[in-house]
Amino acid sequence: MGKVAIYPGSFDPVTNGHLDIIERGLTIFDRIIITILENPAKKLLFTVEERMDLLNQSLTNFSNIEIATYDGLLVDYAKQRNAQAILRGMRAVSDFEYEFQMALMNRRLNREVQTVFLMTGLRWIFTSSSIIKEAARFGGNIESMVPPAVQKKLEETFNKSLGNGKLTD
Ligand code: PNS
Repeated sequence: MGKVAIYPGSFDPVTNGHLDIIERGLTIFDRIIITILENPAKKLLFTVEERMDLLNQSLTNFSNIEIATYDGLLVDYAKQRNAQAILRGMRAVSDFEYEFQMALMNRRLNREVQTVFLMTGLRWIFTSSSIIKEAARFGGNIESMVPPAVQKKLEETFNKSLGNGKLTD
Protein backbone atom coordinates (compact mmCIF):
# COMPACT_ATOMS: atom_id res chain seq x y z
CA MET A 1 0.00 0.00 0.00
CA GLY A 2 2.98 2.33 0.52
CA LYS A 3 3.30 5.55 2.47
CA VAL A 4 0.13 7.61 2.68
CA ALA A 5 -0.15 11.24 3.77
CA ILE A 6 -3.16 13.35 4.51
CA TYR A 7 -2.80 16.90 3.17
CA PRO A 8 -5.40 18.79 5.21
CA GLY A 9 -6.68 22.30 4.84
CA SER A 10 -9.55 24.68 4.31
CA PHE A 11 -8.75 25.05 0.59
CA ASP A 12 -10.94 28.16 0.36
CA PRO A 13 -9.92 28.13 -2.49
CA VAL A 14 -6.98 25.93 -3.58
CA THR A 15 -3.98 28.02 -4.74
CA ASN A 16 -0.86 27.32 -6.79
CA GLY A 17 1.00 27.16 -3.47
CA HIS A 18 -1.11 24.15 -2.47
CA LEU A 19 -0.48 22.48 -5.85
CA ASP A 20 3.27 22.98 -5.36
CA ILE A 21 3.15 21.21 -1.98
CA ILE A 22 1.10 18.32 -3.42
CA GLU A 23 3.46 17.92 -6.38
CA ARG A 24 6.51 17.86 -4.14
CA GLY A 25 4.78 15.72 -1.52
CA LEU A 26 4.22 13.07 -4.17
CA THR A 27 7.99 12.65 -4.46
CA ILE A 28 8.00 11.44 -0.83
CA PHE A 29 4.63 9.72 -0.42
CA ASP A 30 3.02 7.03 -2.57
CA ARG A 31 -0.41 8.53 -2.12
CA ILE A 32 -1.77 11.83 -0.83
CA ILE A 33 -5.31 12.26 0.42
CA ILE A 34 -6.15 15.94 0.08
CA THR A 35 -8.76 16.52 2.77
CA ILE A 36 -11.04 19.48 3.33
CA LEU A 37 -11.55 19.89 7.08
CA GLU A 38 -13.23 22.47 9.20
CA ASN A 39 -11.14 25.31 10.61
CA PRO A 40 -13.51 26.98 13.11
CA ALA A 41 -11.31 30.11 13.13
CA LYS A 42 -11.94 30.85 9.45
CA LYS A 43 -14.68 32.74 7.69
CA LEU A 44 -15.24 30.85 4.47
CA LEU A 45 -16.14 32.09 1.01
CA PHE A 46 -16.97 28.76 -0.65
CA THR A 47 -19.05 25.76 0.42
CA VAL A 48 -17.40 22.36 0.91
CA GLU A 49 -18.94 21.25 -2.42
CA GLU A 50 -17.52 24.27 -4.25
CA ARG A 51 -14.06 23.78 -2.70
CA MET A 52 -14.14 20.09 -3.59
CA ASP A 53 -15.17 20.91 -7.14
CA LEU A 54 -12.32 23.44 -7.50
CA LEU A 55 -9.81 20.90 -6.17
CA ASN A 56 -11.11 18.29 -8.62
CA GLN A 57 -10.82 20.70 -11.55
CA SER A 58 -7.34 21.87 -10.51
CA LEU A 59 -5.82 18.43 -9.92
CA THR A 60 -6.71 16.66 -13.17
CA ASN A 61 -3.00 16.24 -14.05
CA PHE A 62 -2.12 14.58 -10.75
CA SER A 63 -2.11 10.85 -10.08
CA ASN A 64 -1.89 8.96 -6.78
CA ILE A 65 -4.13 11.49 -5.10
CA GLU A 66 -7.60 11.46 -3.68
CA ILE A 67 -9.78 14.40 -2.69
CA ALA A 68 -11.84 13.93 0.44
CA THR A 69 -13.71 15.76 3.11
CA TYR A 70 -14.04 14.96 6.80
CA ASP A 71 -16.13 16.45 9.55
CA GLY A 72 -14.05 15.95 12.69
CA LEU A 73 -10.54 15.61 14.04
CA LEU A 74 -7.73 15.38 11.54
CA VAL A 75 -5.89 12.66 13.47
CA ASP A 76 -9.05 10.52 13.57
CA TYR A 77 -9.31 10.73 9.81
CA ALA A 78 -5.60 9.91 9.42
CA LYS A 79 -6.13 6.80 11.54
CA GLN A 80 -9.27 5.82 9.67
CA ARG A 81 -7.36 6.03 6.36
CA ASN A 82 -4.21 4.30 7.68
CA ALA A 83 -2.13 7.36 6.86
CA GLN A 84 1.35 7.57 8.39
CA ALA A 85 1.72 11.32 7.99
CA ILE A 86 0.07 14.71 7.88
CA LEU A 87 1.58 16.93 5.21
CA ARG A 88 1.66 20.70 5.71
CA GLY A 89 3.31 23.53 3.81
CA MET A 90 5.22 26.17 5.73
CA ARG A 91 5.53 29.65 4.32
CA ALA A 92 6.90 32.66 6.15
CA VAL A 93 8.00 32.65 9.79
CA SER A 94 4.49 33.86 10.64
CA ASP A 95 3.15 30.35 9.93
CA PHE A 96 5.48 28.76 12.41
CA GLU A 97 3.73 29.26 15.71
CA TYR A 98 0.35 28.09 14.44
CA GLU A 99 1.83 25.09 12.67
CA PHE A 100 3.97 24.16 15.67
CA GLN A 101 0.95 24.31 17.99
CA MET A 102 -1.20 22.25 15.65
CA ALA A 103 1.50 19.63 15.05
CA LEU A 104 2.08 19.22 18.80
CA MET A 105 -1.64 18.98 19.53
CA ASN A 106 -2.08 16.39 16.78
CA ARG A 107 0.87 14.44 18.16
CA ARG A 108 -0.63 14.51 21.62
CA LEU A 109 -3.93 13.26 20.21
CA ASN A 110 -2.32 10.48 18.21
CA ARG A 111 1.35 9.61 18.52
CA GLU A 112 1.26 7.28 15.54
CA VAL A 113 0.84 10.04 12.97
CA GLN A 114 3.82 12.24 12.08
CA THR A 115 3.51 15.78 10.75
CA VAL A 116 5.83 16.45 7.82
CA PHE A 117 6.46 20.04 6.70
CA LEU A 118 7.60 21.15 3.29
CA MET A 119 8.90 24.66 2.86
CA THR A 120 6.78 26.42 0.30
CA GLY A 121 8.28 27.25 -3.08
CA LEU A 122 9.83 30.74 -3.05
CA ARG A 123 7.27 31.90 -5.64
CA TRP A 124 4.41 31.23 -3.24
CA ILE A 125 5.91 32.50 -0.03
CA PHE A 126 3.51 35.43 0.32
CA THR A 127 0.41 33.87 -1.19
CA SER A 128 -2.46 32.57 0.85
CA SER A 129 -6.10 31.85 0.09
CA SER A 130 -7.07 34.80 2.31
CA ILE A 131 -4.88 37.40 0.63
CA ILE A 132 -5.87 36.12 -2.82
CA LYS A 133 -9.57 36.42 -1.92
CA GLU A 134 -9.00 39.97 -0.71
CA ALA A 135 -7.15 40.97 -3.88
CA ALA A 136 -9.85 39.31 -6.02
CA ARG A 137 -12.67 41.03 -4.16
CA PHE A 138 -11.26 44.39 -5.24
CA GLY A 139 -10.41 43.34 -8.79
CA GLY A 140 -6.67 42.60 -8.40
CA ASN A 141 -4.88 40.40 -10.94
CA ILE A 142 -4.46 37.01 -9.25
CA GLU A 143 -3.90 35.05 -12.44
CA SER A 144 -0.42 33.78 -11.58
CA MET A 145 -1.44 32.60 -8.12
CA VAL A 146 -4.36 30.26 -8.68
CA PRO A 147 -5.35 27.47 -11.08
CA PRO A 148 -7.57 28.65 -14.01
CA ALA A 149 -10.74 27.09 -12.53
CA VAL A 150 -10.24 29.10 -9.33
CA GLN A 151 -9.67 32.34 -11.23
CA LYS A 152 -12.93 31.74 -13.14
CA LYS A 153 -14.83 30.99 -9.95
CA LEU A 154 -13.48 34.12 -8.22
CA GLU A 155 -14.36 36.20 -11.31
CA GLU A 156 -17.95 34.89 -11.17
CA THR A 157 -18.16 35.37 -7.41
CA PHE A 158 -16.94 38.97 -7.40
CA ASN A 159 -18.19 39.79 -10.91
CA LYS A 160 -14.76 41.15 -11.87
CA SER A 161 -12.08 40.36 -14.43
CA LEU A 162 -9.03 39.18 -12.48
CA GLY A 163 -6.32 38.65 -15.11
CA ASN A 164 -4.95 40.09 -18.33
CA GLY A 165 -3.26 37.02 -19.80
CA LYS A 166 0.14 38.17 -18.57
CA LEU A 167 1.50 35.93 -15.86
CA THR A 168 3.46 37.95 -13.37
CA ASP A 169 5.19 36.96 -10.14
O1 PNS B 1 -5.85 25.56 5.60
P1 PNS B 1 -5.96 25.72 7.09
O2 PNS B 1 -7.22 26.50 7.43
O3 PNS B 1 -4.72 26.33 7.70
O4 PNS B 1 -6.13 24.24 7.71
C1 PNS B 1 -6.38 24.05 9.09
C2 PNS B 1 -7.02 22.66 9.32
C3 PNS B 1 -8.34 22.56 8.56
C4 PNS B 1 -6.06 21.59 8.84
C5 PNS B 1 -7.25 22.50 10.87
O5 PNS B 1 -8.07 23.52 11.33
C6 PNS B 1 -7.83 21.13 11.23
O6 PNS B 1 -7.11 20.15 11.28
N1 PNS B 1 -9.17 21.07 11.47
C7 PNS B 1 -9.86 19.85 11.88
C8 PNS B 1 -10.00 19.76 13.41
C9 PNS B 1 -8.66 19.37 14.01
O7 PNS B 1 -8.26 18.22 13.98
N2 PNS B 1 -7.92 20.41 14.52
C10 PNS B 1 -6.53 20.27 14.97
C11 PNS B 1 -6.35 19.73 16.33
S1 PNS B 1 -7.29 20.45 17.60
